[in-house]
Amino acid sequence: MAARAHWTSRLGFILAAAGSAVGLGNIWKFPYMTGENGGGAFVLVYLLCVLGVGLPILIAEVYIGRESQRNVVQAFEALDRPRSPWMVTGWLGLVTAFLILSFYSVVGGWVLHFLSKALLGQLTSRDAAVGGYLEQLFHSPGAMVFWHTAFMALTVVIVARGVAGGIERANRIMMPALFLLLLFLVVRAFGMPGFAPAVTFLFSPRLEDLTWSAGLQAAGQAFFSLSLGMGAMITYGSYLKQGESIPRITAVVAVMDTVVSLLAGVVVFSVVFTFGQEPAAGPTLMFVNLPLLFQQMTGGYLVAVAFFLLIAFAALTSAISLLEVVVAYADEVHGWPRPRTALLMGAAIYALGVLAALSFNVLGDVKVAGHNFFDLFDDVSSNLTLPLGGVLIAVFYGWVLGRDAVLRTFDGRGPRVLREGLLWAVRVLAPAAVAYLLVKGLAGLWA
Ligand code: PFF
Repeated sequence: MAARAHWTSRLGFILAAAGSAVGLGNIWKFPYMTGENGGGAFVLVYLLCVLGVGLPILIAEVYIGRESQRNVVQAFEALDRPRSPWMVTGWLGLVTAFLILSFYSVVGGWVLHFLSKALLGQLTSRDAAVGGYLEQLFHSPGAMVFWHTAFMALTVVIVARGVAGGIERANRIMMPALFLLLLFLVVRAFGMPGFAPAVTFLFSPRLEDLTWSAGLQAAGQAFFSLSLGMGAMITYGSYLKQGESIPRITAVVAVMDTVVSLLAGVVVFSVVFTFGQEPAAGPTLMFVNLPLLFQQMTGGYLVAVAFFLLIAFAALTSAISLLEVVVAYADEVHGWPRPRTALLMGAAIYALGVLAALSFNVLGDVKVAGHNFFDLFDDVSSNLTLPLGGVLIAVFYGWVLGRDAVLRTFDGRGPRVLREGLLWAVRVLAPAAVAYLLVKGLAGLWA
């Protein structure tokens, strides 16, 4: 078998892992969820979840990857024993990657569609009926499938080129560009009258706004946003060489992901408040409400292009990590050449995605357990297979590998309180919190 691929440097890993984490979850989901849940209180709970649940599981995943140097299924065999029942966690990860990428690519397609409109000036020309673009897209099966195809094709091309030459290279270009675009948008937002109210909305929590449902959503979002529970970080961790400090590099990734969410929130709400809009518009906030405002803004053309380019980069760098989970497995277990595997697996996921895309129009009446395909793939992965994978990973790391693994994670160094804190978080806090999510999620799925 060919020698295993590795990142060319620590920065390569950090950019790729941050690329996976920073995605539609940060720029699309986080602002609208914060808007729906009253702002600051949601942000506060979100930050606690990242620290108490997200970061510990991120550390566990990267450790499992780095130690095993294997794909998501064989990693559990390598660290436990051949045919270990923990392989199930890996299988679950593969299923989740399929489900998430199928609908993620559909939304990625919407972003490309809006990017093309922004470039053509159709978001900012005076007489354009911008508010109806999303609805128009939904009513056009051909366009939905076309943009989904374009997004998936880009994803496949990058993954086909390999770990260092494809994934790392793409992230080295797109991630710095993403940060620059975001910075440009934050500076632009700073000059808007809505900037101060946006900052207040996000950062001064009113504790009376705290609800169980908001807490639950915040925990699920922390998970999704850090790409946890399905082995994306196990797979990326497996391309790390021994000797990298896992606590340090994972903390950098978690901080980057969180900062991008917060800054995206600042940008979105600065615009929303400047134009006296409703922060609780929900999932259409990014595709309906914001584009309407670009039209009224001086220099709106540039802001619109920067905004949708930023989201396109974010979505693409996450999608490649989802496809890589499956490709790494097929590649290593069956020995298929990478370009062929990327194409085959990409095609299979693409087919599922077509079902999701058509559920907005031709397949609108087809329901499974009361959900159309798009919602089904989203709900089953976010509420069921991701949290389940998360509990299994935390328990495997905390109880099966146990104290030794935590010591090795810190390379025998680091303050004792951090090591003990990590052990406690992966043994008790994270499994309990995620198991709670799971029960609630299951109840919601069949409600
Ligand atoms: N973290 C990505 C986002 O916030 O959009 C989504 C994601 C990517 C989830 C990769 C899971 C994953 F494995």
